[in-house]
Amino acid sequence: MTPANTPSAVPGDTAPALPDGAPAAPSPASSAAPQGVAHPRTIRSYVRRAGRTTTGQTRAFEALGPRFLLPYTPDATLDPAAAFGRSAPLILEIGFGMGEATAHIAGVLPDHNFLCCEVHEPGVGALLKRIGELQLGNIRILAHDAVEVIDHMLPVWDAATPSRGLDGIHIFFPDPWHKLRHHKRRLIQPPLVTKLATRLQPGGYLHCATDWQPYAEQMLQVLGAEPLLTNTAADGAYAAKPHYRPLTKFENRGLKLGHGVWDLVFRRV
Ligand SMILES: C[S@@+](CC[C@H](N)C(=O)[O-])C[C@H]1O[C@@H](n2cnc3c(N)ncnc32)[C@H](O)[C@@H]1O
Repeated sequence: MTPANTPSAVPGDTAPALPDGAPAAPSPASSAAPQGVAHPRTIRSYVRRAGRTTTGQTRAFEALGPRFLLPYTPDATLDPAAAFGRSAPLILEIGFGMGEATAHIAGVLPDHNFLCCEVHEPGVGALLKRIGELQLGNIRILAHDAVEVIDHMLPVWDAATPSRGLDGIHIFFPDPWHKLRHHKRRLIQPPLVTKLATRLQPGGYLHCATDWQPYAEQMLQVLGAEPLLTNTAADGAYAAKPHYRPLTKFENRGLKLGHGVWDLVFRRV
C-alpha cells in the first residue's frame, strides 16, 4: 500500500489508529458568500475574546514562535513533513483553548504530529509556553480560523494523489452557542463535517467532545448523516472517552456536579 491509501491507525488500537486516551471576533461557520456581494458577511464560530497575554506567554511567543508557529498560507497547501521536520500520522485540532489537553495528548502520543488551530492569542501563548516547559517537538500551531485553514491549506484526500490525508481530527468542547439565534455559529454542522471528512485518510477518525447535551445530540445527528463517516460506537451511540483525552479542570468540576460529557468518535470509510 502507498502512504496515501494506508488506513490510518488509532494510537493504541489495532484498527486504524485512535490515540488512546468564548468566543472572540465572530466560523463552520464561514458561510459561502453570495455571488456578486462585495463585502460578504462571514459567520464565524468564534468571537475574539478579550484576554491579557501574560509576560510568560509573550516570552514564549518570542522564543518559540519562530519554530512552532506556522504561517497561514491561503495560496499554498501545507507540507506536513516540512512543517514538522518528519513524517508521522497527522492530527488536526480545532480550537485548543489554553492548550492543556493538546499538550497532554502530544506527550502521550509522541509518534504523532499535531497541527493545532486557535484564534485566541493568549491561548496560543499558553500552548507555546507548555511546549517549552514539556519539551514537546510534535506540535505546530496555526493561529488562524481553522475553517480557512481547512479550505485553503489542507487538500481533499484522493487515492490518486500521493499526499496522505489527516489521521485524526480533535474538536474538544467547541463553543456551544447556546442561543437559538447563534446556532449558525456552531462548528459541527453538515458543510464543515463534510469538509473534515474529505480531508481524512480512509480509517482516519473525527473525535468530538462536548458537555452540552443538545449540542451532543446535534453532533450525533450530523456526524451520523455524513456518508463518508461511520460511528465507532453503535449507530446512534456515544463513544467511551478515548484514553488519550485527559479530563479538563472544567470537566472534572462539571462531573462532580453531575453534568455529563459526551464523546463521539467517527471513522472515515
Ligand atoms: C470553548 S473553547 C474550548 C477550548 C478547548 N478545546 C478546551 O477543551 O478547553 C473553544 C475554542 O475554540 C476556538 N475556536 C472556535 N472557532 C474556531 C475556529 N474556527 N478556528 C480556530 N479556533 C476556533 C475558540 O477561540 C475557543 O478558544
